[in-house]
Amino acid sequence: MTDQYAVIGNPIGHTKSPLIHGLFAQETQQDMSYTAIEGPLEPHDAFAATVRAFVAAGGKGMNVTAPFKLKAFAMADERSERAELAGAANALSFKDGRIVAENFDGVGLVRDIEVNLSQPMAGKRVLVLGAGGAVRGALLPFLAARPAELVVANRDVPKVRALVAQVAASGSLFACGYGDLEAMGRFDLVVNATSASLTGELPPVPPSVFSAEGAAYELAYGKRLTPFLRLARNAGVASVADGVGMLVEQAAEAFAWWRGVRPQTRAVIDQLTVPLD
Ligand code: ATR
Repeated sequence: MTDQYAVIGNPIGHTKSPLIHGLFAQETQQDMSYTAIEGPLEPHDAFAATVRAFVAAGGKGMNVTAPFKLKAFAMADERSERAELAGAANALSFKDGRIVAENFDGVGLVRDIEVNLSQPMAGKRVLVLGAGGAVRGALLPFLAARPAELVVANRDVPKVRALVAQVAASGSLFACGYGDLEAMGRFDLVVNATSASLTGELPPVPPSVFSAEGAAYELAYGKRLTPFLRLARNAGVASVADGVGMLVEQAAEAFAWWRGVRPQTRAVIDQLTVPLD
């Protein structure tokens, strides 16, 4: 029987996951189907019931998107370390009656930056903006890439301090407010992981953080030059990118986890890319 996978979210109409996984399955010749499911928002336990019904019908795995990442994490029987730190799951695997939770958002982001954009983080000064779910998922994979310094800035400073304190830092990890950034000099990589771009806003980051030889990365995708990327461009940053590569790379991680075979990502990223200009 064809193995069944799905992405679950609400709303889900915009999702690119069936397209991405369909292309991966074609390329790696996997006998699988991948659909989109609009998960129920109410009542509280309806999400878990929908997942369990999918498993009962032979489902092998799911991607999870907003607003269900926390619920997916909570209903799992086993969780990876990065899912634990994120407190959220973006992928589930169903095996032997157990639900295993993973979070590939951070590793997908690191892979896009280091491999696709050729910006290795080892020994570099890295600045991440925000302290929401996206940042929680990215901290461990970022530290594993061994930057010289990882600074996380947020409007709500106690929130970012609490997040950083949760990580037993093996590298140099600092939390701060936007007002502290002016005195911190230039960073090789600045990542906007706030949700500001979704509403066309700009986090209050000073242009002094950017370096012309460095890179600026926007987690949002398909929004062309966001105010953040425009600021980076105006500050002379040559390498600016949005999160389409991260989207495809996290999908590739999940695919490899489920199927034991890693798909090629370049052609899929090219197909989904909306030019910035
Ligand atoms: P997600 O889970 O998708 O990351 P979230 O948990 O709502 O979303 O987090 C959104 C992040 O974007 C938060 O860190 C938020 O900052 P605060 O914690 O200070 O609220 C940040 N954010 C949203 N709009 C912003 C803006 N206009 N400027 C700066 N930061 C912003």
